[in-house]
Amino acid sequence: IIQYGVEETLASGVENIIIVTGRGKSAIEDHFDVSFELENLLQSRGKTQELEVVRAVSELIHVSYIRQKEALGLGHAVLVTKELVAEEPFAVVLADDVIVSERPCLRQLLDVYDQTGGSVLAVMEVPKEETARYGVIAAEQVGERLYRVRDMVEKPAAETAPSNLAIIGRYVLTPGIFGALGDTPPGRLGEIQLTDGIRGLLATETVYAYRFEGQRYDAGDKLGFLKATVELALRREDLGEAFRA
Ligand code: G1P
Repeated sequence: IIQYGVEETLASGVENIIIVTGRGKSAIEDHFDVSFELENLLQSRGKTQELEVVRAVSELIHVSYIRQKEALGLGHAVLVTKELVAEEPFAVVLADDVIVSERPCLRQLLDVYDQTGGSVLAVMEVPKEETARYGVIAAEQVGERLYRVRDMVEKPAAETAPSNLAIIGRYVLTPGIFGALGDTPPGRLGEIQLTDGIRGLLATETVYAYRFEGQRYDAGDKLGFLKATVELALRREDLGEAFRA
């Protein structure tokens, strides 16, 4: 899942990647590293094709890792990258939202950023009864698929949700978010919510939302993970046909 997120990021033209990690997640670092043992084994057995696949992964990215020592929320996870990001606009990619689209979802947001210079959130329409699973925006439409955000709330009940436009895990943010997050008290579940931080940013900056084109899978959910696995397998050039059969 994380590799898909990395591939989308690279395909969007963003090359410097920071992965926020934590206790028990060292498999992520190992995955993107050179794996000496595996490569030696494959080489000694003459498995050149498999060897190429393994090498390609470690050549994919130059990545920095930063550890979030405690799971204090998504806003906190963003906040720990402050020194690495420095005073630059940056993107946040939540890899468990897997998005399949012709133009990478993050690229769609970056194009809006290039035009507006403001922070941009990916949104999609969800059934009203599902708003409690997402951050939800109140916004006015200002262009094709483009909204100006007026307010936002984390996981509202259907009755109180300001719209059916849900935030999906792709954001382009201005560095102003770090100040806003620093001023954000713990919210829902005692966690520092990114949604609350961006809400704080609204006081001083214009924030946009873009109803992206593409199919999104919630790979953080068991059923969603299975759907993503099947549908992405079907799309593969090397395995799709055999898998479909
Ligand atoms: C996070 C965000 C939420 C957003 C969602 C998208 O929630 O807090 O605003 O709508 O990602 O997947 P989580 O899924 O971590 O509960």
